[in-house]
Amino acid sequence: MAEKLLMRALAGETLPVPPAWMMRQAGRYLPEYKATRAEAGDFLSLCYNPDLAAEVTLQPIRRFGFDAAILFADILLVPQALGADLWFVTGEGPRLSTIEGMDGVRALKPAEDVHETLAPVYETVRILARELPSDVALIGFAGAPWTVATYMIAGRGTPDQAPAHALKDGERAAFDALMARITEATVHYLSAQIEAGAEVVKLFDSWAGSLKGDDFDRYAVQPARAIIAALKARHPDVPIIAFPREAGDGYVGFARATGADCVALDNSVSAEWAAREVQKDGCVQGNLAPGHMVTGGQPLIDDVRRIREAFSGGPHIFNLGHGITPDASPDNVALMLETLREG
Ligand code: CP3
Repeated sequence: MAEKLLMRALAGETLPVPPAWMMRQAGRYLPEYKATRAEAGDFLSLCYNPDLAAEVTLQPIRRFGFDAAILFADILLVPQALGADLWFVTGEGPRLSTIEGMDGVRALKPAEDVHETLAPVYETVRILARELPSDVALIGFAGAPWTVATYMIAGRGTPDQAPAHALKDGERAAFDALMARITEATVHYLSAQIEAGAEVVKLFDSWAGSLKGDDFDRYAVQPARAIIAALKARHPDVPIIAFPREAGDGYVGFARATGADCVALDNSVSAEWAAREVQKDGCVQGNLAPGHMVTGGQPLIDDVRRIREAFSGGPHIFNLGHGITPDASPDNVALMLETLREG
């Protein structure tokens, strides 16, 4: 059997048609997802139900024929496994108990204990490794330490990550201890996903863009580098995708600085710029604006062609610049793939 397209792109091969998948491809824009979530009861119950989590992972593969499946779980399961309370408020998003300084960090569980809570996720991975079509690659994931820390400190999503910046700048030792604990937990979590059958892992640093100056190196580059080094020591053949979202100029050299095999790009940077400045170091992923999945039509077609063309000189994985939104139309997803794969 020829190697999967996604693995070939990650190994540095330039392909005539790039492999494609979509962030949040299993999600509320799909009626079958909503039905399975209702069967599970709620979002977190779905994450911890291996049969149903595997089912929603497979739904977009069956419907659209993506080249990769991403494990259905959430980046906030790691804080929960470290002892934080976690719940989701419908229509609003996640809520967590907050970390208030060094005492809060000390009260967290040891990093190696995360497996107790996360074992069902590894079972989801094992089911998927058995059930996925043989040409579809299985991607595991975790949040990067800074992004996870922003939720643990604020107890919710924040527009500017102000509470996390305040702890970082005001109580550096506590902040660094928290980052270290998350980093260690993430290595345990991703290693276990790989041992269960994940072929690729991705680190989501959704709030990397708010780290400026030296902070970007210290809290986006260095933690990614530490996690990637630890994973490569245990699993040298498993490629790693890093997504320092809205890093801007920080994307340049990110793969070299961290050891990532691929850098995922958001849609605030142009594909033409990224092809010159980022793809010169290896595989890139991205970066269609997710809004096209709502609006569709000729602008969608034109942008898919433009992005494919811009990245055609090197290894590329086609994706959105961020997750697909609940108001998107499945027809536009099909149109995106049809356009990408046309002659
Ligand atoms: O991409 C996938 O399809 C795989 C599963 C996945 C989810 N979340 C499922 C999910 C992945 C990879 C994530 C990552 C994630 N989770 C990130 C990083 C990527 C990004 O989007 O920037 C972040 C920041 C989170 C935390 C999180 N989870 C938030 C802020 C929210 C609420 C916002 C929202 O979209 O509802 C979630 C909920 C969530 N995670 C949903 C899904 C499908 C929606 C929950 C539902 O069904 O009601």
